[in-house]
Formats: sequence, structure tokens, C-alpha cells
Amino acid sequence: MSVHKPTLQFVFGRMFDDLSANYGGVMISIGHRLGLYRLMAETGPLGCDAIAERSGCAPRYIREWLASQVAGGCVAYDPASATYRLTPEQAAIFADHSSPTFLAPAWQCVAALWAGEERTLEAFRTGQGVPWGEQDQRMICGSAAFYRNCYAASLVPQWLPALPGMVERLEAGSAVADVGCGHGYSTLLMAEAFPNSRFAGFDGDPGSIAIARSLAVERGLAERVTFAVCDAQELPGESYDLVCFFDCLHDTGFPVASALAARQALKSGGAAMIVEPFASDRLEDNVGSVGRTFYAASTAVCCAHAISEKGSHVLGAQAGFAALREVLDEAGFDSITLAAETPFNLIIDARA
Ligand SMILES: C[S@@+](CC[C@H](N)C(=O)[O-])C[C@H]1O[C@@H](n2cnc3c(N)ncnc32)[C@H](O)[C@@H]1O
Repeated sequence: MSVHKPTLQFVFGRMFDDLSANYGGVMISIGHRLGLYRLMAETGPLGCDAIAERSGCAPRYIREWLASQVAGGCVAYDPASATYRLTPEQAAIFADHSSPTFLAPAWQCVAALWAGEERTLEAFRTGQGVPWGEQDQRMICGSAAFYRNCYAASLVPQWLPALPGMVERLEAGSAVADVGCGHGYSTLLMAEAFPNSRFAGFDGDPGSIAIARSLAVERGLAERVTFAVCDAQELPGESYDLVCFFDCLHDTGFPVASALAARQALKSGGAAMIVEPFASDRLEDNVGSVGRTFYAASTAVCCAHAISEKGSHVLGAQAGFAALREVLDEAGFDSITLAAETPFNLIIDARA
């Protein structure tokens, strides 16, 4: 077996790239929040002063910000005309809010990790947890915004059809629970796609539920979509054709009890759909930028929340299918299959 031993130069180069990404990430967030990427995507090539004028920002700041963008490959520059523009690929990542590759808001999560550093240090030293709702709000909004577009690209066209019989059931009219729904983007997407069905989103964080409710009203869905503060283990006594967990089963301190509550709430022939961050079962197979990102969030956020619940498990965001299957098996599901996967998610179909 050959063992790859990276040189000092290689490791230093990679770490400097990371450092540059962190500096650059702040600039990306600033460009996103000031609407600079959107402006450039809508207008085509513009000079520095025109961008400053149209954005209402100070020209000297814009000039330096544009230089940082060109240096980082985020904005294209034509030296002959001294103009800046976004290529379609750059627009898909920085300007198009509905693109599945829209990454600009994800930098909010990085800012939140830094903002929470002192609390994380304390948690390492004391072993205490940090509840999800006590994270810097940028973590909550940034992760909701990041996953929103992943769900928009995959949930209705790919994931639900991967659960045999589920689309027909939803089209005919079903009851659906979305456990740990956060801001409720997954709930609202399903509600928009299946007008004959009713949807109930539940989350332990009151702040997230308040946002989910206002989004339901904004989208004219409040009659068919309800949101309530509720622990995953204590679903109200209704029964559902589909119970979903999006990126949250691993966060709960009692995943077996939460999965059991879901199983007990299922109608005959119903399914639980568990969507988890993509991970292989072994650490050595999770080496790379997706694993590194998810393990970092898992350390400071997901494990911290599960620990705060003082429960039976702290699965972490990189649990992998084998560990998740064990939890679902313990909760009494008879059939547990990996229905689909993407670079960011595993989609599990569990039936009683
Ligand atoms: C990473 S967020 C995912 C939110 C949303 N499902 C999404 O995909 O954007 C995890 C969510 O699980 C919720 N959560 C964690 N433990 C919970 C529990 N025991 N009961 C209910 N919700 C819980 C958190 O409040 C948080 O909103």
C-alpha cells in the first residue's frame, strides 16, 4: 500500500489557499450583501466608477473590492477597456439566488463559526453543549439559505420520486410532517408542488418557527402549511403519510426516540425520509473539502447541539449510512434503504 506523504511546500500551499479563501470570503459576503454581484450580472461589463455610481457605494472601496474579486477569480476583468463583468458561471455562484450552486450566503456560516469561537472553546473545556438557537443567527440563516437551493434542485424532482409510491400519494392528498424544519424551506417547497396535501413543520427553536410561519404567509400557503414549536420526540398525536427529517436527525440528542416517534406517527404504507449530510462510513473516506466543511460545522454546531440535549447519542453531521441505519433499526423500522445521494446529501427511505 503506498502512503502519500505531502511535502511541506504542498501543505503550506494548501493552507495559504485556505487563508486566502477566508479573507476572500468576507469580500464575497460584502459583495453579496451590497448587491454588487447582482448588479454586475444584470448590467454586463462596467467600469469601476459606473459600478460605484449604480450601487451607491464609495468609488475607492469599490475599486479595491473589485481588485480582490479579480485576484480571486470571482469577477472577470478586461484590461483593455478597464471593465468588470460576471461570466455566467460566476453569476451562478454569486448572483443567481435560485441557482443550486449559489454559494454567497454560505459565508454567513463561516462568520458565525468565528463569532462563536469563544463559546466553542468553552464547550471543549467544559464538555457542555450549545443549543442550535443560541448560535449566531448567521449560522441559522446561512445554513437555511445554503440548503434551500439544494432542496429546490433535488427534493421534488429527484428525492421524493426515489421513495416508491410517494409522489402518487402526495398528488392524491396526504399529510406530511417535516421534523426539525428550521425556516421551513423544505416544507414550503413540498407544499407548492403538492396542492392536495397538508404539511406540518416542527422545530425545537422558536425563532426558526416564527420565520417559517411568516414565509408561509408570504407565499400564500398558510392554510395548508402549519408550523409549531415541538421536540422531535413529541410529535402531536396525528398520523402522516410522510415524515421527513432534513439535516436534523443527527442534531437531536435522542435520534432513536425521534425516529421512533416518526415511525409511530406513520399511516399504513407511509415512509420516513431522512435527509442527512453526505458522508461515507469511515473517516478515511471523508477526506476532502465536503468532509472538512461538514466536520467543522459538526464540531461547533451539530455535536454542540446534541450534547446540549443531554441525550443518548451525539451522532455528528458525518455519521454515514451505517450509523444512521443502526439508529433507524433500533427505532423499529423494518426496511431502511439508501434511496438517493448527492455530493451534499444522503437520502434514506425508512418504512415500518
Ligand atoms: C441544521 S438545522 C436544519 C433545518 C432545516 N431542516 C433545513 O434543512 O434547513 C437543524 C434543525 O434541527 C432542529 N432540532 C435539533 N434538535 C431538535 C429536536 N430535538 N427537536 C426538534 N428540532 C430539533 C434545530 O432547531 C434546527 O432547526
